[in-house]
Amino acid sequence: MLYVPAPQVLLNIHNVEVVIGIALTEESLHRRNISHFGPTTLRSTLCYGMLRLCKPQASDIILDPMCGTGAIPLEGAIEFNSSFYVAGDNYDMAVNRTVNNICHIQKRRADKGSAPGLPIDTVRWDLCNLPIRTSSVDIIITDMPFGKRMGSRKKNWDLYPSCLREMARVCRPGSGKAVLLTQDKKCFSKAISRMGGLWRKLHTVWVNVGGLHAGVYLLKRTGAVFGQTPEDVYESRGPVNAQGDEKDDKDDKELSEVTSGV
Ligand SMILES: C[S@@+](CC[C@H](N)C(=O)[O-])C[C@H]1O[C@@H](n2cnc3c(N)ncnc32)[C@H](O)[C@@H]1O
Repeated sequence: MLYVPAPQVLLNIHNVEVVIGIALTEESLHRRNISHFGPTTLRSTLCYGMLRLCKPQASDIILDPMCGTGAIPLEGAIEFNSSFYVAGDNYDMAVNRTVNNICHIQKRRADKGSAPGLPIDTVRWDLCNLPIRTSSVDIIITDMPFGKRMGSRKKNWDLYPSCLREMARVCRPGSGKAVLLTQDKKCFSKAISRMGGLWRKLHTVWVNVGGLHAGVYLLKRTGAVFGQTPEDVYESRGPVNAQGDEKDDKDDKELSEVTSGV
């Protein structure tokens, strides 16, 4: 049998950008945190890239309202541990998996003699009706149902607008951010364009998730007051373009720093 060694240096050239990756470990680190997997568990490497995009700061409150197995908030609680994470899902089994994954990491840390505590809480909730105060969250970071293995494309047409509105309610106007992953790009773009300027799309990073071409959307919560009608927003801020974009799509990137190792 022919043995093909894993590449040691990866060069990714995209337009004017070059990213060089160097293999530091023999094995991929994409499963580094998760012991209890679900049907759509995200790779830790992709979770890290998503977290890096939103630049967590000390004492930020970071929410994953559709946490599944908790891969994103767990990665955050380990790697960006001066922020505090709240992980929730409406599916009992998902919440249990998240709790088990957290306990597993805490035990691993205790066995190594390091402090076991992680800055993370887990809740069962419906994302469309979060038990969270208005304007109290700094960053929302989540992997939305693509409508393939999880949920359905048809349900996304109701789910996406409801969840973007509820996320806009809890996120701090003017400074809050969201990093959202989805493959259902059409539904997502339509939903954003109907948010009355509550969110502004800053840029999109294209990633490969299990062979599916998906977008990681970095959004900024504008200063628009939640609860105002789109007409009110137009009066106070002037028109926003249909996609809520700050810049053209030329800002969209295919960053290998996010996808590498995924
Ligand atoms: C794509 S999965 C997230 C996978 C997760 N990132 C992981 O690594 O395991 C989407 C999650 O959204 C949850 N979900 C769907 N509708 C929801 C709702 N209305 N409220 C809360 N969670 C919801 C599903 O139960 C599912 O766990």
